[in-house]
Amino acid sequence: MKTIGVLTSGGDAPGMNAAVRSVVRTAISLGMNVKGIRRGYNGLIEGDIIDLSARSVSDIIHHGGTMLYTARSPRFKTEEGMLEAIATCKKYGIEGIVVIGGDGSYRGARDLSLHGIPCVGVPGTIDNDIASTEYTIGFDTAMNTAVEMVDKIRDTAQSHDRCSLVEVMGRHAGYLALQTGIAVGASEILVPELDFKLEDVIQKILTMWRNGKKHFIIVVAEGVGGVDEMAKQIEAATGIETRSTVLGHVQRGGNPTVRDRVMATQMGYAAVKLLSEGKGNRVVAYKDGEIVDYDIYEALNMKKPFDIDMYEIAQATSI
Ligand code: ADP
Ligand code: F6P
Repeated sequence: MKTIGVLTSGGDAPGMNAAVRSVVRTAISLGMNVKGIRRGYNGLIEGDIIDLSARSVSDIIHHGGTMLYTARSPRFKTEEGMLEAIATCKKYGIEGIVVIGGDGSYRGARDLSLHGIPCVGVPGTIDNDIASTEYTIGFDTAMNTAVEMVDKIRDTAQSHDRCSLVEVMGRHAGYLALQTGIAVGASEILVPELDFKLEDVIQKILTMWRNGKKHFIIVVAEGVGGVDEMAKQIEAATGIETRSTVLGHVQRGGNPTVRDRVMATQMGYAAVKLLSEGKGNRVVAYKDGEIVDYDIYEALNMKKPFDIDMYEIAQATSI
């Protein structure tokens, strides 16, 4: 392969820039040219393509967001959009693409591979909800941001003897909520993967209150939702003043942590190596401390079990 493309797609995640840098420089080291495809799959459809050199990716390793911009592209899912994307690849001589994003972006990469453009997926999302990998770029930074925010909320909850419900991101997944909840010593963690009854949460708060605890942090995943209403019900049932906070997009920004920068660099490197060996239709993943890769179909069919052991640890240590 002489020329490859790189794009970021779906929700941005801190560390995507480090991955782009790694892709560009590894490819150049291996004698390939690199085209930046801007705004995800929309850039392929619209021909929003830039040349990237080793210097184009200077001074980005420490920045959140993505210098290539990102987008969600409904048009790419249509046959017409796909044909325009392929035409752009032909026009710019793009022979393979590194796609940095989540499961949705991987599906797009699978379709492109089927149409003759080999793609390699690199996992980038703060949710850590990609089944084929134990780790996704951005997760560590997002957790650290969420923990920093909840620590601040704890100061005021403690001063007022209040209960605070904090919603963290994760539309379909509770990984961010679980790890954040453990790290902040939450009294309860609510995730979409596990059923719960608000009445049980209320009883737990009351028991802890009788045992001398006077302030409470409840971490709630976005996929559970309804923190405002839950706060009202908890306050009405317990008599404890209760507030809710939705952390929102603050979790998606900020300088990536060491873990995200290093992981992004390793994964970007691995993706380019695969393309340089003529291997497409694959995804890069982290498993048992190593960077590995899988066939994209196999990856998309994998299931990621919720870490119930970790959840039990959270329960045992929140009494
Ligand atoms: P993520 O990659 O973070 O999961 P999305 O699910 O929003 O984010 O997907 C990003 C983009 O990938 C979508 O806007 C679309 O262009 C493409 N995509 C998503 N699902 C599919 C699919 N089933 N087939 C083809 N392309 C898809
Ligand atoms: O997938 C990452 C994520 O931040 C989810 O946690 C969240 O549900 C979603 O993206 C929010 O997306 P948007 O960028 O559309 O607000």
